[in-house]
Amino acid sequence: MEGEREAVGVVGVGWVGLVTATCFAELGHPIVALDVNAEKVESLRRGEITIHEPGLAELLTANSERITFTTSMDEVLAATRLLFCCVDTPPTYSGDADLSRVRSVVAQLPEGSEHALVMKSTVPSGTGASIRRDKPDLRYVSCPEFLKEGSAIQDFMHPDRVVVGADAGSEDSADAVESLYEPLGGEIVRTDVASAEMIKLASNAFLATKISFINEIANVCEQTGADVTEVARGMGLDERIGASFLQAGIGYGGSCFPKDVSALKQLAGNSGYHFQLLNAVIEVNELQKRRVIAKLEKHLGSLADKRIALLGLAFKPDTDDMREASSLVLSARLQGEGAEVVAYDPVASGSAGSMLPEVEMASSASAALERADAAVLVTEWPEFAELDWASVRESMASPILIDGRNYLDGVELRAAGFVYDGIGRPDPPDGT
Ligand code: UGA
Repeated sequence: MEGEREAVGVVGVGWVGLVTATCFAELGHPIVALDVNAEKVESLRRGEITIHEPGLAELLTANSERITFTTSMDEVLAATRLLFCCVDTPPTYSGDADLSRVRSVVAQLPEGSEHALVMKSTVPSGTGASIRRDKPDLRYVSCPEFLKEGSAIQDFMHPDRVVVGADAGSEDSADAVESLYEPLGGEIVRTDVASAEMIKLASNAFLATKISFINEIANVCEQTGADVTEVARGMGLDERIGASFLQAGIGYGGSCFPKDVSALKQLAGNSGYHFQLLNAVIEVNELQKRRVIAKLEKHLGSLADKRIALLGLAFKPDTDDMREASSLVLSARLQGEGAEVVAYDPVASGSAGSMLPEVEMASSASAALERADAAVLVTEWPEFAELDWASVRESMASPILIDGRNYLDGVELRAAGFVYDGIGRPDPPDGT
């Protein structure tokens, strides 16, 4: 039975590639996964993974016999017909996406063969067309990924939708991609390449807009006495709005939203359109990361020589990813004000160390909070909700807690003697 399943090639075994390879293997497909980094390939062959994604290591081990890791494109081409391109497309200084890795994959593909390039990497709208201008006979399918870090396996196995974009000459390959995803049950959106590319960028830009919108509402709530969590609950019940991505906080980060919003803005600009809304989305997000400074100053006055504890560093829980994490801007700003910064993250402390050279890394949340003049919850890791806050309070120099994710129970913390300040949540009038 298994021998009948289509073999799948995966090019680029970063986070997207490894999740894609592992999940297709779990569905029974033989996988040949390539990376140019020989060291990474060696460690994957030994079953070692360096990224933190819940369930991934276990699923990889369970499917190790179906996955071959290689550095040889010839090996991929010999064994597979569909090549999922999962290389990264980081932002350049101009805000455009860097497509050099994509181009180097395309350069290695034989034209006029049965092989098809299935683009998973996030690329600007128009990339597929430009690749096919250079290689008119190349079969090309756009199949953007919508996985979230921290829940990637669940997202892969239960997609809301699968977008499959193909133009004339690549329909057979698109049919083959559709068949791969059919067992997962999500609605398949079959469309042209340019629209598929735009669906990805527009989806991320819309979600980022939703976050910046609720963050601005939170800032207004602080002026007017409303509670943004109540406002979001009331808004989210409207089906047209939806409840997700309405959590106010200290800004979005990660490898996707900042990059994709900027790439879409740049793409629009390059084609002669000024995308005004996205400028505001980006600016609001930048300012949101810094608002915590004013909150701390409100309670402490000058931050010079104050010891500030950061709880969480990763851009969100269940990942060790520090790319564009709000903690980076926040800690640098705190240091700019002369504060001493101590931090703890359950998994990202190690990867964050080199990015935060002057920050003292604590071995636990309680250790980070000892002698702190204030604490800022940056990432909503569940273990922070389970801390024994009453005894933590005794060890702090002053019990000031800024909850950058509105994650903790403010009423309980105030009752335990904390000065608790969330985002868009004013103090209750009765002081409770
Ligand atoms: C995002 C998208 O959600 C995925 O659909 C997409 O596939 C992925 O980018 C990508 O392009 O690869 P991800 O960056 O993993 O996924 O994380 P999200 O869960 O979307 O969170 C992004 C940031 O927004 C985090 O910093 C998070 O804390 C923040 N956020 C999220 C909020 O501040 N408020 C919210 O209500 C939701």
